[in-house]
Amino acid sequence: MNFKIAVLPGDGIGPEISVQGVDVMAAVCERFGHTVEFKYGIVGASAIDAVGDPFPKETLELCKESDAVLFSAVGDPKFDNDPTAKVRPEQGLLAMRKQLGLFANIRPVETFKCLIDKSPLKREIVDGANFICIRELTGGMYFGKKFESDDVAYDTNHYTRKEIERILRVGFEYARKRNKHLTVVDKANVLASSRLWRKVAQEMEPQFPDVKTDYMFVDNAAMKMILDPRFFDVMVTENTFGDILTDEGSVISGSMGLLPSASTGESTPVFEPIHGSWPQAKGLNIANPLAQILSVAMLFEYFGLAEEGKLIREAVDASLDAGVSTPDITGNKGTQYGTREVGAWIVEYIRKK
Ligand code: IPM
Ligand code: MN
Repeated sequence: MNFKIAVLPGDGIGPEISVQGVDVMAAVCERFGHTVEFKYGIVGASAIDAVGDPFPKETLELCKESDAVLFSAVGDPKFDNDPTAKVRPEQGLLAMRKQLGLFANIRPVETFKCLIDKSPLKREIVDGANFICIRELTGGMYFGKKFESDDVAYDTNHYTRKEIERILRVGFEYARKRNKHLTVVDKANVLASSRLWRKVAQEMEPQFPDVKTDYMFVDNAAMKMILDPRFFDVMVTENTFGDILTDEGSVISGSMGLLPSASTGESTPVFEPIHGSWPQAKGLNIANPLAQILSVAMLFEYFGLAEEGKLIREAVDASLDAGVSTPDITGNKGTQYGTREVGAWIVEYIRKK
């Protein structure tokens, strides 16, 4: 394949992990005879600083004319601590999701054999946990009508049947390809929007008779994920619940630096780590590049290139087994490896294979 990739490094540790993702993608392309052209765009705080807009038109155009986007992270404390700021880096990410119609965010939660004891949860609870959270990404409170004054503020959890149906379909189809168990996570005992989710899901169930569908309130799901994560195969949920539950999910793997995601929908798909920009670590060469590198594996798999994805996963597993890991994993014990060293080790593995 001839890949045209838009690379959006963003802020904080974004640029450092981005380099590792790009190098791994280039190495895999070379190894399998694909060609790849990387073009860079600005997004987030760095784009606000440069042109006053967290998702400039040029970046949107670049994304639209590419086959895929390799995104890293956005965010900067100078905006977090200023509630009066008119533009925020995160708006760049939200604008990208909305403008590219990326309604389905696929967030796999998996465990890595040699890291089981890194999880703060007991081995017997997390060992073998492996599920996918499908998060609706362009609706709900994130995008519903908002109002903000000194005395009153609200966000609206707005969902249409069409939005619900298309994301549930993604959930049912993923379940069908996996262990045929779909959990619809909502808060139908309280929220009108959730009741519509549940109604639509129940109406769709007969189209997927091979899938066992169950319904769980989000508070209960948050508890179940920690008590018995192996219960889940595919979970599908609205934007806000999915945001919260996937941070919780990263605890199961042992580090937030390990989880990649894919955002897909109407236009160019975006592949990105689920973690943020970790500004405190910027420039220190300590950020874990694996979530970014695994998002490159998801990119290949999206295009049906399973072998390419498999080689990346194998290289990542090998690096973990060899103890070539950043301090979030090694806990500052043993030999220290930085972002660059872990990336270079994985590239080398791919070249030699
Ligand atoms: C995520 C992030 C974003 C979100 C932020 C940075 C806007 O937390 O991708 O999970 O809330 O969606
Ligand atoms: Mn989040």
